[in-house]
Amino acid sequence: MTTTTLYTEYDPLAHVYNEDWALGVLQETLPALEKLILSNLVKDAQVLDLGCGTGQLVQKLLEKGYKVTGIDASEGMLRYAHENAPGAKLILNDARLLDFSPTFNAVISIGAFNHVMSLEELTSIFKNVYQALLDNGIFLFYIFLEEEYQLNWDDKITGNVKEDYAWAARNSYDSETKIAAINLTIFSLIEKTWQRLDSTILEKCYTKEEIITALKTSGFSDISSYDSHHDLKISQMPGSTYFVCYKRVHS
Ligand SMILES: C[S@@+](CC[C@H](N)C(=O)[O-])C[C@H]1O[C@@H](n2cnc3c(N)ncnc32)[C@H](O)[C@@H]1O
Repeated sequence: MTTTTLYTEYDPLAHVYNEDWALGVLQETLPALEKLILSNLVKDAQVLDLGCGTGQLVQKLLEKGYKVTGIDASEGMLRYAHENAPGAKLILNDARLLDFSPTFNAVISIGAFNHVMSLEELTSIFKNVYQALLDNGIFLFYIFLEEEYQLNWDDKITGNVKEDYAWAARNSYDSETKIAAINLTIFSLIEKTWQRLDSTILEKCYTKEEIITALKTSGFSDISSYDSHHDLKISQMPGSTYFVCYKRVHS
């Protein structure tokens, strides 16, 4: 019997993510997706966006003609996804509980896997993705490696103030445990009263070798990785990395 409960840590920050974060992520990831996989996908391909968040990428993929399913474990994030991508199939579920028979030509996951806090769980998600893919299906995901946490993360402070909400975040990274944190304070104006909410979102940093081993253990082959700064020349700073691999049943 599985006892995994849904990953709901993004519920309190869904509004802030939708307003202030999602577009920046989309602008950085879309050119990489175009370069790495979209040019090879047929127009009506079945695509799964795992950890789809507030759905901006799902909508872009729909506009390109793909049949898109979005899955996220946060009900708050998925509520915005329904607004942002009304034509998509959206499912509230946890990547650790994914149980599809082979359905998808491509599975994409942007920024979700650093929230998986053990290599064992990450490996079991990769196995679930492998099962969900059709033969020759592509798996692409975007994940932060240590360079990102060391160069662009630790002690970074961000924030914004709007009419009805304000937030501040301070990031930290512990290179011993390889655990990073986003320490967030959000103020929301609810019925003319400002309400404060403090929350911490944890991330786990894996090495490239750990990820490649987990992918191979799960059955994937033709594994490549691309640093978005060094290899793709998309981001200003190194660290965020795209992995691309394939399910090859009949090679
Ligand atoms: C940084 S956000 C990225 C959202 C979206 N992919 C984007 O590009 O804007 C990470 C998302 O992954 C989701 N997530 C994290 N762990 C998950 C899990 N185990 N199963 C499903 N979704 C998960 C979170 O709820 C959140 O919406």
